[in-house]
Amino acid sequence: METFTSAYSKSIHAVYRTGWLVTVLLVIPWLAWAEPAAIPNEQIFKPSPLPDRIILTPCGDPTEMMGLNWRTDLSITQGFAQIALAEVSRDFVDKAHQVASTTMVVETDNGPATFHSVRFASLSPGQTYAYRVGDGVNWSEWFQFRTASKRPEPFSFIYMGDSQTELKSLWSRVIRGAIVETSGVRFLLHAGDLINRSLRDVEWGEWFAAGAWINGTIPSLVAVGNHEYPRKEGTRESSLTPLWRLHFTLPEDGPEGLAETAYFFDYQGVRFVALNSNEKQEEQAVWLDQILSSNPNRWTIVTFHHPLFSSASKRDNPELRNKWQPVFDKYHVDLVLQGHDHSYARSGPLVYDNIPSGTAAICAPAGTVYVVSVSGPKLYPLERRDWMMRAGEGTQLYQVIRVDGDTLSYKAFTALGDLYDAFNLVKQGEGKPNRMEDYSLLPPERLPSASPGAAKPE
Ligand SMILES: [Fe+2]
Ligand SMILES: [Fe+2]
Repeated sequence: METFTSAYSKSIHAVYRTGWLVTVLLVIPWLAWAEPAAIPNEQIFKPSPLPDRIILTPCGDPTEMMGLNWRTDLSITQGFAQIALAEVSRDFVDKAHQVASTTMVVETDNGPATFHSVRFASLSPGQTYAYRVGDGVNWSEWFQFRTASKRPEPFSFIYMGDSQTELKSLWSRVIRGAIVETSGVRFLLHAGDLINRSLRDVEWGEWFAAGAWINGTIPSLVAVGNHEYPRKEGTRESSLTPLWRLHFTLPEDGPEGLAETAYFFDYQGVRFVALNSNEKQEEQAVWLDQILSSNPNRWTIVTFHHPLFSSASKRDNPELRNKWQPVFDKYHVDLVLQGHDHSYARSGPLVYDNIPSGTAAICAPAGTVYVVSVSGPKLYPLERRDWMMRAGEGTQLYQVIRVDGDTLSYKAFTALGDLYDAFNLVKQGEGKPNRMEDYSLLPPERLPSASPGAAKPE
C-alpha cells in the first residue's frame, strides 16, 4: 500500500521532473537567443558631453607652448582648459588659469561632434604643468606634462611606424608596451598612416582608444601618410582628411598650403622636421633648405612617411629621393624616420652620390641614417638588400631614441619588449661625419621566411 509520504514524494519528484523539463525547454532556446550581440564601433565611439580623444601636440616653441585637442558631443558649445604649475600637493588646483577652447562643430561619417583645441602659451621652460579639460562643470582628470628645457639636456622619445589597422585590438599593445618599458619619454613620433580609412571617424576612435591617457600626458609629433590623404570620390586626386587638423594642433611654420603637415621645432639641442611626402615635394625642399641653413642645433632629425630607401623594390620612391636627399646631405641630417613599407629596414650612413637605386644603395663613411619601421599588425614582405645594416619582417616594433650631448643612441624593440636593433651616433666635431657604433649582441634577423602570411602591400 502506498503511504501518504511516498505518494507525496513521487508527486514532488514528478513536479521537479516537469520543472526541469520546462526549464530545459525554455532555457535552451533562450541561451541561443541570448548570445552576446556585437556592439558596433559607431556606438562605442559616439561622442558624449564628457571630453574624449584628449591629446597633446607640439605647436611651436616647446619650452613655452603646448597644443591640446579633445572632443565632445554637440551639447557642449564652449570648452575650457585649466592649467597650473603642478605641485606636490593638490594646492595647484586653486591656482589654475582657465583658457577657452576654439570649437568647431563638424559632421563626421559617425554623426556630428564638437572638436576643441587650445594652444597653451607663455609657459615656463623645464616645468611640470597640470591641466584638465571640460565644460566648466564636468572635467577630465588632471593630466601632467613637462615643457622642454632651454638647454640641450638629455631626453628620449619614441618613434613608431604605421599603426594603421586593428588599432584598438593589436596596435595598443605596442604603444602601451613602449610606455611601460621606457621611462622619461618626452614625446611620441608617429611616421604616418596612423589609421587606414582616414574619413572614418571610428578608426580615429580606435587610434585614440589605444593611446588612451598616454596621449594626454606625452605629446605626439605626427607626420602625415598616404592613408591620411583619401581619394576624392570618382577621381585620382587625394587631399588631407579634415579629421587631421580637427584632432591635432601642430606648428604652422611650414610652407604655404601645408599647415600642420610640414613643420619644425627645436627640442633641447635637436631640430625636428616633419615633412609631408604626399604633395608639394619641391616646395618643401626649398623650405627645408631655408630652415636648415640657420639651424643652431647640434642634431637634426627628419620624419616623413614614404621612405627614400624602400624595403621592397616595387615600393621605391626615386623622385622623392632626388628632391630631398641632396638637402639632407647638404646639411648633414643625422637621422631620417619613415614608415609606409610595413617592415623594418635600417641603413648605415648614406649619401646621394653613392646610390645607384633606392634599393641598392651603398653605405658611406658619412651621411644620414635612414629607418623604415612599422608598429601596427599589418606587415608586408621585405627584400633584404646590402644597404640594410639591419632588417626585419613580420615584426611589430617601437624605437626609443635618446639624445645626450654628443651621442644619439637608437634602440628598436619588438612588441614583447625585446631588443631588435641598436646603434649609437657620436658627434666628432664641426665638419666631421658622425661615428657610428653598432651593437654586436643582437638576435638573429627576422627575414622573409619569418612571415609567410604577410599582408599584400597596397
Ligand atoms: Fe603608407
Ligand atoms: Fe601604411
